[in-house]
Amino acid sequence: MNPIFEKVKKSYDYIRTVTDFTPDVALVLGSGLGEFAKHMEVECEIPYCDIEGFPVSTVAGHDGRFLFGKVEGVKTVIMKGRVHYYEGYPVTDVVLPTRLMIMLGAKKLILTNAAGAVNTDYKPGDLMLITDHISTIVPSPLIGENIEEFGTRFPDMSNVYSQRLLDVARNSAKEIGITLREGVYMQFSGPAYETPAEVKLARTLGADAVGMSTAIEAIAANHMGAEICGISCFTNMAAGILDKPLNHKEVSEAANKVSHIFEGLVKNIIKSM
Ligand code: HPA
Repeated sequence: MNPIFEKVKKSYDYIRTVTDFTPDVALVLGSGLGEFAKHMEVECEIPYCDIEGFPVSTVAGHDGRFLFGKVEGVKTVIMKGRVHYYEGYPVTDVVLPTRLMIMLGAKKLILTNAAGAVNTDYKPGDLMLITDHISTIVPSPLIGENIEEFGTRFPDMSNVYSQRLLDVARNSAKEIGITLREGVYMQFSGPAYETPAEVKLARTLGADAVGMSTAIEAIAANHMGAEICGISCFTNMAAGILDKPLNHKEVSEAANKVSHIFEGLVKNIIKSM
């Protein structure tokens, strides 16, 4: 068996010793957005550290557990805390939790993150629907022998972020009266924030947002045929736009400040998915 597949399967087998919960929706909560979990009627909780060989977050402010339960009556698994490539795990470990949630049954996936605004029309506190991404400068999680159980060798990436879910998200935002930006998310490896020159590069390439997490997860999930919705929460203007250095504490605090709008939107999306 492919060792990467085997590792996901082993994690799956462990989870199945604890719960037979089959989620319809998987939700990944980004930095500072973990409070959303209070909207779930939790049926079962599994800390990542209980799963042998599972990547565990090393970052302050990143919890690490799966929560299984209902959000707005919809069977959901929440990843409260994720691991990032910059933590030193192989990219296949970084996407392992995403693959696992899909293997557990979730066919729809909501990826959320904190991001820096590259588009100068956008501002901290805005939420952005991810319409597409640029992942070219981080390694692909699909490199290596193809895992046929997950998907095809050369997966199409023309519609990573489902048109249907884009509409669901747009309508959900309209219903609750919030402005939802739209744009392209570009992933950098981190952990350093980008330089102003890199932010200019991102803008030149067509990016509206920069972050350190979501595109590789979306690639792995798209490979498996999941329907994906991505939401960025702008915590700061990307480097070099304002005359102000970036720091992680302020980024996390900024995410907390918009959490009520974020939570309203995500709840409404889950209800309408
Ligand atoms: N760059 C990369 N990742 C981020 C940023 C940023 O400016 N803000 C929050 N996450």
